[in-house]
Amino acid sequence: MKTVTARAHTNIALIKYWGKKDPELILPYTSSVSLTLADFYTDTTVHFEPQLKADQFTLDGISQPTGKISAFLDLVRQQAGLSASARVESHNHVPTAAGLASSASAFAALALAASRAAGLALSARDLSRLARRGSGSASRSIFGGLALWQRGDDDATSFATALPKPALPLAMIVVLVDAGPKPVGSRALMANTVATSPYYPAWVSTNEKAAQAMVAALAADDFATVGHLTEQSSMQMHATILAADPAFTYWQPETLTAWSLVRQLREQGVPAYATMDAGPNVKILTLAPYVAQIKAALAPTFGQRLLTTGPGPAARVLTEV
Ligand code: DP6
Repeated sequence: MKTVTARAHTNIALIKYWGKKDPELILPYTSSVSLTLADFYTDTTVHFEPQLKADQFTLDGISQPTGKISAFLDLVRQQAGLSASARVESHNHVPTAAGLASSASAFAALALAASRAAGLALSARDLSRLARRGSGSASRSIFGGLALWQRGDDDATSFATALPKPALPLAMIVVLVDAGPKPVGSRALMANTVATSPYYPAWVSTNEKAAQAMVAALAADDFATVGHLTEQSSMQMHATILAADPAFTYWQPETLTAWSLVRQLREQGVPAYATMDAGPNVKILTLAPYVAQIKAALAPTFGQRLLTTGPGPAARVLTEV
């Protein structure tokens, strides 16, 4: 059997995914739209070995529990009619302690490497469906640039596709508020938000409309609308989380500091919009010509804790031997 190494880049949702209507198949309540990033990615090597007793998994050279990986590999084995265990080695390429290691790049790289190592040649759509089963956001990391994950109705219809490349020179600045591990895992919190937040139904109807509006705004290269929808989707996601029982927020004081600076910049006419995920870090969506000005405004508070990136490529096979 072949040894395959694949690379997939992480992505940041402009329109967020938050909540599963089917936790087993990872079918989301709403569609989402994302930007795949150039500078943060995962490389994963997979080799199925009939003589191995059990799957083995290392991350950055350190042996890890195999539960989630084995459950995912079972999906690949089923599709390929294989029973062999696999050796899986992953390396996360994120700036040291950036706190941006992501399940999106991890499962997109694993889906591509494992399916190819098992002898399957999946279409981008089927790879996206497979990656989705590992982590919802991974469905979008199969694609470079902008991706739309249409929520779909079932396993066959819930997958991401690439959106056309915009003329806009999109850029993203990551503000590192805290590079440490998350205090609360997003999967459990997502389920609790769906179960207990009285705002959740409002989130579903608003966010689904926003996903479709985002596709139109991107196609029109209308950055004011793209940015506005981006910030609204993030704030509304965090509002549903705050309203859950027990109430919770990932935000830290510096998260608000960064967001205030972004709003001040906008009042001065700078196109900058904040988005936050399942953690306290702030990602600023802007256009390349404004990056230096935004970094200069944030530097007195955040110093070296500012990273700049832009659109990144699709998941791809690096080696196959
Ligand atoms: C806030 O894709 O990590 O980043 O499907 O449970 O693995 P699971 O969740 P995951 O959630 C991502 C949540 C988010 C928003 C987004 O990326 O759309």
